[in-house]
Amino acid sequence: MAPPLWGYAPVKVSLEAGFASFAEHWRPKVAAELNGQELKLVKIQGTFPWHSHADAEEMFLVHRGRMRVEFETQVVELGPGELVVVPRGVVHRTAADEEAEVLIFEPAETRNTGDLEDPVFTAPNGVKI
Ligand code: NI
Repeated sequence: MAPPLWGYAPVKVSLEAGFASFAEHWRPKVAAELNGQELKLVKIQGTFPWHSHADAEEMFLVHRGRMRVEFETQVVELGPGELVVVPRGVVHRTAADEEAEVLIFEPAETRNTGDLEDPVFTAPNGVKI
């Protein structure tokens, strides 16, 4: 077991500043990492393609605006402070009529389009705010 660590310099993250630092849609930005997971900030507008993640669960938490997480038989509408978890393997897509700011929690290196390789929507991984 590693000994306790003193003298660590913590890094504070501002969601407001993070979301203000970029404008493009569907391009997640890593704001924090912990336990092999990433917290990503993303702005969305329009409709994302259907996809699934064979080995990852992902959580969507709305920061500003409204979004939908759509499943084959159900649509979950989310507003600020509301979240939903998509289990691994489950087909889903996200959508927003007007721009929404969303937090995504998922394992590092999770491709945003999952099993799908899309020329428009597949985003590079590991891009930090
Ligand atoms: Ni997904």
